[in-house]
Amino acid sequence: MGNLDYDAPLLEALRRVYGQRLGLFIESIGTPGERLYARVNTLRVEPGVLLDRLAERGVEALRDEELPEAIYFRVRGPFRVELKDRVVVASKEAAESVALGANLYAPGVVKCPGDVRRGDEVTVVTRSGLPVGEGVAARDCREVPGSRRGLVVEVYRSLYETVRVRELPEFAEGLIYPQSLPAMYVARQLKLEPGELVVDLCAAPGGKTGHAIELSGGRVRVIAFDRSRGKVERMREELSRLGHLPFVEAWVADSRYAHEDFSWLKPDEVVVDPPCSALGVRPKLEDRKTYGSVLALVNYQLQFLRAASRMVKPGGVVIYSTCTVTVEENEEVIERILEEVECLEVDEVRVGRASRGVYGRYRELFARFHPHEHGTPGYFIAKLVKRRSC
Ligand SMILES: C[S@@+](CC[C@H](N)C(=O)[O-])C[C@H]1O[C@@H](n2cnc3c(N)ncnc32)[C@H](O)[C@@H]1O
Repeated sequence: MGNLDYDAPLLEALRRVYGQRLGLFIESIGTPGERLYARVNTLRVEPGVLLDRLAERGVEALRDEELPEAIYFRVRGPFRVELKDRVVVASKEAAESVALGANLYAPGVVKCPGDVRRGDEVTVVTRSGLPVGEGVAARDCREVPGSRRGLVVEVYRSLYETVRVRELPEFAEGLIYPQSLPAMYVARQLKLEPGELVVDLCAAPGGKTGHAIELSGGRVRVIAFDRSRGKVERMREELSRLGHLPFVEAWVADSRYAHEDFSWLKPDEVVVDPPCSALGVRPKLEDRKTYGSVLALVNYQLQFLRAASRMVKPGGVVIYSTCTVTVEENEEVIERILEEVECLEVDEVRVGRASRGVYGRYRELFARFHPHEHGTPGYFIAKLVKRRSC
């Protein structure tokens, strides 16, 4: 299990999904997989034109076999990372980025010893001391506490190597958006007919919202909710970089109550991509979770589905997705909402190379991505339709 600390009931829940292949699953989520995906902003550029432009500068990017807007960069490694005398401790998310070759920025620093000076050689480590990258301190550590921006370690060697997507000029120009392949299949399930209103209940940082706008050719309007003011501000910046602001409104709200607080909104389609245990996210260098925390999330996830099913127009669509793998947060959440809300039916999620659900009477209609089978993060997608008579 390495640095994964899951209690016995959670391991049992994972065994329910993977059985004898649990070891393969655990091993694969410890690595990033062989491909790092990004979405081409098709409102601004043709994928082929973008790939040619990257190739001209010697940046190797490849087309996904199935989704035209999906491109990927190869991930190489693992490489050996040396533990130097001076170490800088990074947060979980920042360490996972550094492990893929990203630099370390101030918000991701957990501990930077006061004697580290600009120009010193350092190793970036996880909280549990796992070395993820070697680099050079870009500033004195004593300047870091309290600072919200700025480079702290310029990384020159990491566990894995791939293209630094966020440092490409194409990123700054809003031509690409880093997004996993399964996440791209979520907006792909929407109808996106011209003039539709789409509501994204848990929208930040805006991945599915932006994709829906692009797939519709800018012909739908999206209202993107998130509870966190800071995340909504960053989402607006991100959507502005992509040129999507004319098509979207980003609102700060607790969207579990959106059907009451915004009762005049009658969306044609709703996306529910709620907080989840993120057990499918990779690479997972360290993680600590209990089965109890998973069950608490299930109740939270159901609240968003209740709001979605009340808001959506008769005949409308609700897409539910998670980046996790437990049956409790996926197939069972759908079964529970179907028991509660009579108006909903399950429709088939259309994906080329995913597997079907692992549990329940609707399993053949769901999509699941398994890290050790599909090379992607672990992911779940379900599609619900509200009966026209409701
Ligand atoms: C899995 S992330 C969404 C990712 C996003 N859909 C995307 O594709 O980029 C879940 C989001 O739900 C937001 N959230 C959590 N509780 C919420 C609530 N009660 N109301 C609205 N948003 C909430 C979190 O702030 C977080 O940004």
